[in-house]
Formats: sequence, C-alpha cells, structure tokens
Amino acid sequence: IRNFCGYDPERDFERCLRAHEDAVPSNWTRAQAERIRITPDNVTTEINEPFPRISPDLWIWDMWPLTEKDGSTAVLPGGWRVLFALTAPKSVLPGKRHDVARIGYFYSKNGNDWIQGGTVFPEGDALGSRQWAGSAFVEDDTINFFYTATGRRGESQVTYEQRIALARGRVISDLNGVLFDDWAPHQVILEPDGVLYQTLEQSLSGGIIYAFRDPFFFKDPASGCEYLLFEGNIGGVAGEFDCGPGVPPEARFYTGNIGIALLRNEDFTEWELLPALLQAPCTNQQTERPHLIVNGGRYYLFTDSHQFTFAPGLVPGPGPDGLYGFVAGSLRGNYTPLNGGGLVVTNAPQEPFQAYSWLVLPDFTVLSFIDNFNLQGISIEEVGLLPDEFQFAHFGGTLAPTLQLKIFPNNTTKIVNELGYGVLTLSQTESPKCNQQFCNECDD
Ligand code: FRU
Repeated sequence: IRNFCGYDPERDFERCLRAHEDAVPSNWTRAQAERIRITPDNVTTEINEPFPRISPDLWIWDMWPLTEKDGSTAVLPGGWRVLFALTAPKSVLPGKRHDVARIGYFYSKNGNDWIQGGTVFPEGDALGSRQWAGSAFVEDDTINFFYTATGRRGESQVTYEQRIALARGRVISDLNGVLFDDWAPHQVILEPDGVLYQTLEQSLSGGIIYAFRDPFFFKDPASGCEYLLFEGNIGGVAGEFDCGPGVPPEARFYTGNIGIALLRNEDFTEWELLPALLQAPCTNQQTERPHLIVNGGRYYLFTDSHQFTFAPGLVPGPGPDGLYGFVAGSLRGNYTPLNGGGLVVTNAPQEPFQAYSWLVLPDFTVLSFIDNFNLQGISIEEVGLLPDEFQFAHFGGTLAPTLQLKIFPNNTTKIVNELGYGVLTLSQTESPKCNQQFCNECDD
C-alpha cells in the first residue's frame, strides 16, 4: 500500500532542504541530564542464565530488523521476518568483538524462533576492516542496506575512522528461507565535513571516544522527505568547545550529536549533510544508534548512551548505560528529554551492564542484547582485567527480552511488559497522515 507520495529527489530536494534552512540543533543540557533518575518505570528485571541463545557459534550484539521504507517490520514472501546483527565468532574475547565485526542475519516466521542465515555480504565485498551498525529496508525485491564501514579494508592494525556506506542487493525469499544476492559494489555515501560533524583527525587532540556511524533510514511521514540519521560529534577540533563558566574544564571534550542527512538522488548514493537534530555539548560524548519514531504527530528520537560517556561534574552523577529519548512536534522541532532527563530504559542497578544497544520499533517494543551479566558489583573496567574464562562466562552475546514501552501524553514513559528473548513483533508504523499540500503537489 502506498500511504503517501513518493520522494522524487529531482522534484522534492529543494523543498525538503528549505525545511532545514535556519535549523539549529536542539540541546541536551547538563541541567536536563541532572534530572536523570532510575525509577521502577525505566528499569528492567535482572537477567541471568539460563537464557536462550540465538546462535550456537556467534556472539551477536547490535541488531536491527529488515523494514519497509516506512519503518514497519518487513514480511517477505514465504512469511519471513529478518533480523540483522553485528556478529563475531564465539572464540573472540567479548571486548575484542568490535575489531572483527561482520553483519549477519537471522530469519523467522513468528519473530521468536530464529534460523541463522549467515553473513549478509560475501567476504571481501564490504568496506572497512569491520562493519558496525546500520539499518536496511526492502522495496520490491531490492534491499537498501546502510552500515558503518569502520577502519580501512586490509589494514594490518585496527583504526577508528568511520564512514557510512551503502550496499544494494536483491532479496530472494520463499517457503525455504531467505537469501541476499546480486550486491552492487558498496559505496561510501557519507563522511564528516569537519564543520557540522567532527572528523577523526579533529578528534585526535583529546576526548574519550569518537563517532561517525550507525546510519538509520527515516522517511518523514509529514513531508515525504527521506533522510539518514547517524551518531556524530560536533564539528571542530576536540577540546575547543566552550562550556561556559561553572563547568569542569574536561567537559569540553564531550560533544555528542545526532546527525541527519537529506537524500539527493534516487540511487541512495548522494546525501546532503544538515545541521544535527540534537547535540549534547558538555553533557555527553556518545549518542549511539539514533532512531526516530513518529506517533500521534509527535517525533520520538531515541539514542543509546553509556555511563562513562557523560561529562564530568554532573550532580548527582552521570546517567546510567541506557536508552534515552526526546520528543518534538515536528522533525525540526525542539526536542526535549522524555521523563525530564531523557532516561527511558536502563538495567537493574545491581547489574548495570547486563543489556545495551536498545532499539525502539514503531509499536514501542524495544530490542537489545545481553552484554555483561551477573558481574555482582565488578566494574566494567575491572572485567577487562579478569581472566579470559571469566569474561567469556559473563558475556551474553545474544538477544535480551524484548520490552514493551508505553509513552504518556505528559512525555513520561513506562516499561509495561517484558516479552520473550529476542521477540520481533510485526511492528507497523501508524498510518501516516498525509500532508495535504504535499500530496496535491505530486502526480502519483
Ligand atoms: C553500540 C555500538 C555502535 C557501533 C557498534 C560497534 O553498541 O557502539 O554504536 O556501531 O556498537 O560494535
């Protein structure tokens, strides 16, 4: 079903660009972050063994479903739902998995029992020395796959440059299962410009961690315009940001933002960088895996962040590893944190690292993976110093229970249910209300 008019870059690019003309990023401020509280409404139950594992031989972590262009879970011929995930062999020490990550896939008829499909790209096709998170949608039988190409192919030592890449291929699906084939050569489609978004080089003067990654495809139902969201840092040399008086000087190295780029051609290869949707200067360095859901005319912007990436000096302390959310009245509206500080989902306080990389779907179910569980108070830094056996035994590397979130009109949220481990619902985007003016303009 075609709910809204197609985006034709030839016809629509200028109109879509104009909507961002004087746009400035919303701010996630220190004062807002100081309102973060762990409450019964945002905390999940403790995870412990035994739990089901999606793969016998692979660790999996960041995950995302194959969707339709509007963000709904795709159901392929044969009745299959598909879930992508970053993967590494189980022989790899959990902390080293990021250095060898490959994108794998699983498919299922009920969104609960998963069949392992293998790696998505033939070895040697993908850009980067490893692949990090992204998103993918299917249109007819073409898959448009956006991912993070980290480092450079063939490098002998891992490096941390991150570029956003596109792969387009064909989906083959029938009663027997799902395959991907006919991949066109992968292309780099977005790199930081150093002005809106920091380059790796600019980051080298200091700071704790760098990002230009995690592309998320988004079609705005109000305008038809098509975008990629991604995790970035504010452009400029690290450490030059002025946090103003009364803020610890080291906070100037914390400049996470949620970037956005507008599609410029019909092949998905050309994109225009736009001012970030949200930035967290002097508040937080990391806004990972940003994603947007439109519901009831409101724009819910979610991101994952870590305790260690909050800027120093926040009172009563840094926020926990968690899913953070913001709401605005339109794509370029002023995003304000849900629940006052932004915290929407976090781990049981006694096991603060048991799950991560939460991804909210259009029906407000939330996927995540089991990270370091049953640490019994051992800090995440200490874990890295413990014997390999301990590290292997306390890493989940599989899907956590899917959560059901509810959002109330006063911009508070509550985890209302926990479903099974790794359950992927049919999650449909609410039928978009077509912008009349725009719809009258188009001829299809
Ligand atoms: C989140 C994350 C992503 C990145 C991936 C790397 O868990 O840090 O931002 O793409 O993991 O493994």
